[in-house]
Amino acid sequence: ESVKVFAPATVANVVCGFDVLGFAVNEPGDEVIMRVTDKPGVVISKITGDEGRLPLNPAKNTVSASVQDYLKHIGRTDIGIDIELHKKMPIGSGLGSSSASTVAGLFAINTLFDQQLTARELVPFAMKGEEIACGYGHADNVAPALLGGFVLIRSYEPLDVISLPFPEEMYAAIVYPEVDVPTKDARQMIRSKVLLKDAVKQWGNVAGLVTGLFTKDYDLIGRSMVDGLVEPTRSILIPDFYKMRSIAMEMGAVSFGISGSGPSVFALTKDEATGHAITRALQKQLKSIQINSLSFVSSV
Ligand code: HSE
Repeated sequence: ESVKVFAPATVANVVCGFDVLGFAVNEPGDEVIMRVTDKPGVVISKITGDEGRLPLNPAKNTVSASVQDYLKHIGRTDIGIDIELHKKMPIGSGLGSSSASTVAGLFAINTLFDQQLTARELVPFAMKGEEIACGYGHADNVAPALLGGFVLIRSYEPLDVISLPFPEEMYAAIVYPEVDVPTKDARQMIRSKVLLKDAVKQWGNVAGLVTGLFTKDYDLIGRSMVDGLVEPTRSILIPDFYKMRSIAMEMGAVSFGISGSGPSVFALTKDEATGHAITRALQKQLKSIQINSLSFVSSV
């Protein structure tokens, strides 16, 4: 018995919602092929597309570790599971790379066990994977990868995950400049204390963004996607970040910001053609400073 599962990349934070907002895109993403075997235990037999960067050790790889947790939870540690992971997206890109792999693995094992858990119930297992990957079990990549669409993590303790509506016509134009920014490092560099006046601005913007999503008000969405807490620090690691913002906004983007912990950036647009035009212009800008990049345009 075997299953093949694809799980998508995700844009976490969505600018103002550090650790609490995220949305899924259609591509890129990762693929897991999972087989039941006779020998008890979880094994990663093959990883492709990672340039040898991911661990094969079942306790250290986020896919196998979360599958082991799942099996423990349902009381089936007697079973043998063989995992092939095919990475089809860049690692350390800010596009939820570890999340896509972990979620594909969890969805696969849950499918082999007749969907014993709901997608929502799989979120805590996937968060454990994020903890292994970057030291903190944030849910703003794994929850949208599992549930699709736009997701709010209203609370971590207790976990309260809410799917949000969003305008039908909304596209994410994503550019990944090929510089490595591990989430672990990008989390360590941000301040852990904030001023009340900055917090006031931030929660005003999060509420504004959520309201804009409900009312399909692009103008409100755009003016709410401002981040005074994390972006000023993390943008330092992204080549030509502010230049790319001006280009995207001048070309008609609704908003522009860092995807997850970077270095990927994204613009929200109202139509696909604008998304493609923006990614072309941003890639050209990066090329002019000798930075190679990849781009993706997807409906949200
Ligand atoms: N919320 C996380 C962070 C997302 O910004 O560190 C990482 O992809």
